[in-house]
Amino acid sequence: MMISQKKIASTMICFLLLLLSIAFSEPTRNLNGISAPTVQQIRNRHDGSREVIVDNGIIRVSFSSPQGLITGITYKGIDNVLNPHIRARGYWDITWQGENIRGLDRIEGTKFRIITQNEEQVEISFSRTWSGDSHIPLNVDKRYIIRTNTSGIYTYGIFERLPQWPEVEMGLIRMAFKLNPDRFHYMVVADNRQREMPTDDDRNIQLGHAKALAFKEAVELTHPHNLKFRNQVDDKYQYSCEVKDNKVHGWISTKSHVGFWLISPSGEYRSGGPVKQELTSHVGPTALTTFISVHYVGADMETRYRAGEAWKKVLGPVFIYLNSDSTGNNPRDLLWQDAKRQTEQEVEAWPYDFVASSDFPSRRERGTVTGRLFVNDRFLTPAQSAYIGLAPPGLAGSWQTNTKGYQFWTKTNETGFFTIDNVRPGTYNLYGWVTGFIGDFRYENSVTVVAGSEVNLDRVVFVPPRNGPTLWEIGVPDRTAREYFVPEPYKDTMNPLYLNHTDKFRQYGLWQRYTELYPNHDLVYTIGASNYAQDWFYAHVTRKINDLTYEPTTWQIVFHLPYVNWRGRYTLQLALASASRANLQVRFNNEYSMPLFSTGYIGRDNAIARHGIHGAYRLYSIAVPGRLLRTGTNTIYLRQAKAFGPFEGLMYDYIRLEGSF
Ligand SMILES: *[C@@H]1O[C@H](CO)[C@@H](O)[C@H](O)[C@H]1NC(C)=O
Ligand SMILES: *[C@@H]1O[C@H](CO)[C@@H](O)[C@H](O)[C@H]1NC(C)=O
Ligand SMILES: *[C@@H]1O[C@H](CO)[C@@H](O)[C@H](O)[C@H]1NC(C)=O
Repeated sequence: MMISQKKIASTMICFLLLLLSIAFSEPTRNLNGISAPTVQQIRNRHDGSREVIVDNGIIRVSFSSPQGLITGITYKGIDNVLNPHIRARGYWDITWQGENIRGLDRIEGTKFRIITQNEEQVEISFSRTWSGDSHIPLNVDKRYIIRTNTSGIYTYGIFERLPQWPEVEMGLIRMAFKLNPDRFHYMVVADNRQREMPTDDDRNIQLGHAKALAFKEAVELTHPHNLKFRNQVDDKYQYSCEVKDNKVHGWISTKSHVGFWLISPSGEYRSGGPVKQELTSHVGPTALTTFISVHYVGADMETRYRAGEAWKKVLGPVFIYLNSDSTGNNPRDLLWQDAKRQTEQEVEAWPYDFVASSDFPSRRERGTVTGRLFVNDRFLTPAQSAYIGLAPPGLAGSWQTNTKGYQFWTKTNETGFFTIDNVRPGTYNLYGWVTGFIGDFRYENSVTVVAGSEVNLDRVVFVPPRNGPTLWEIGVPDRTAREYFVPEPYKDTMNPLYLNHTDKFRQYGLWQRYTELYPNHDLVYTIGASNYAQDWFYAHVTRKINDLTYEPTTWQIVFHLPYVNWRGRYTLQLALASASRANLQVRFNNEYSMPLFSTGYIGRDNAIARHGIHGAYRLYSIAVPGRLLRTGTNTIYLRQAKAFGPFEGLMYDYIRLEGSF
């Protein structure tokens, strides 16, 4: 009896839903031809699955419900901009690890709600509350906003963990979009980083289309469908981008004259600061927005949540923007220029005033911090074009590995002034660094921002580490190895995009060139005679003996001292731009002595394999007793002692020997 009543009820609901969906299937247009967005809920009669469809007359977006995965985007006559051949097309996901569990979670919602629906916009929510189940211990609320007269979707997520929940590690939180492979072939990451791309199938090693290389993300395209990609490499890490430059990237369908773009108007919800590198778009066609990841930093990235630790963070909103061009001339450039224009508008509109969640403070609920940064390296000067930012309280440089809080970064102007605006209320430290100087700045007092406040710090002074006058130096203190020697790529694994390009270092296999250049003897750099742009290899890598054997390498810096203060204390300032499973030992004038200094086992940033020209920054100020030095010729031995394979190694940012004052 009960069952049949339920059945009748559900049949009636189905029928009602069907009626509703018929009634609202076409958005009604007002006098301006603009329609208010509509929401339909549909239930599939065959399998009982539900769907939510939001339509504003420009785009029509379908979501699985209550999971909240984006299953379809209809735009400009393209039935689905996303890949209709696969199930997971537009989704948020998390890679995580708990006690005895490790997983990839697409955070499928269990509850659908309409948050806002009016003439202006629709905001919907797909949420999941943790109930001690096998999912990641996290409450997640995925929000989507579709506005009237707007060609795109805003999305953000509210992630929350309660202190009593089990310990968990979250290595990656991102959004992924798999686009329609029949349409999208041209990828754009920046003005000078865009190209026609091979297909997913071209990467298939089993079918003999490609050859495996030193790590699974990279393949040599031996038999691609389009022969012009032959003897090229495909590797998604070649399209990584620093957070500060990662505001818009995406794909163009040249055939349909349609662009699909991921726009990130703010860096506040990212992690690791402005020069943290993240993936962007890659073969698939795939487009990603990464909020939290260990890429280019590694295990040092702070992603573990301990028992007793609470966390709440709003990731986004980001804007999924679609554009089109009907003029027919050069659609690529027009669509890209338009995407950049749209990005400027989104940045201008930040923080958005149309977000319903009270976890996302509006402009007037935020504050501003201003000041003027000076650098005092024996002389006081205003810090020009320096990065300065607010991040959670911690040690100097701790923002590099911070994923848990919000960060607000800007640059000083030519006279050192800075304004950090739209800061969420909270207590922060003020951090920064100045190109041309070593070390990390941290303002001594914490900075508290409340709604509507303007905190003027007036004058803040960064005193970079220095114990004496410069005797010599190698490189430029800029936290990268860009200025050093970057060799030519191999002919059968090159990416033509990076030939004759400012980013020469984004080629596959450059590390192998070291063994060719220095087959028997390691690099020797002579101060006064050598030139770092030609004579200092961009990475201190291992030497390949054969496919299974690699050996440690020892670089030498040879320098002349006309006079030595035997009782004096000299300092070797050694700044690293990257470290991967390395141990750097430093010796003076005796290659076989006990090291004067060793870093210990450091780094998992993998920047050598992943063509970053830097990973995380490290500075060592090494005290050198005068008795280790000689009048006349001296040699420093830099030995990278770990050598399991091709990718253990370091990149130097800058090296300086200081005398004593
Ligand atoms: C709709 O959007 C377009 C493009 O952004 C704009 O030019 C136009 O003025 C908008 N129309 C209305 C009625 O807001
Ligand atoms: C730098 O900012 C200050 C304060 O806003 C302003 O007075 C000054 O003109 C700016 N200087 C330059 C060179 O832009
Ligand atoms: C390399 O780039 C420069 C500047 O963009 C250009 O003038 C030059 O012709 C290019 N050379 C080659 C070989 O493409």
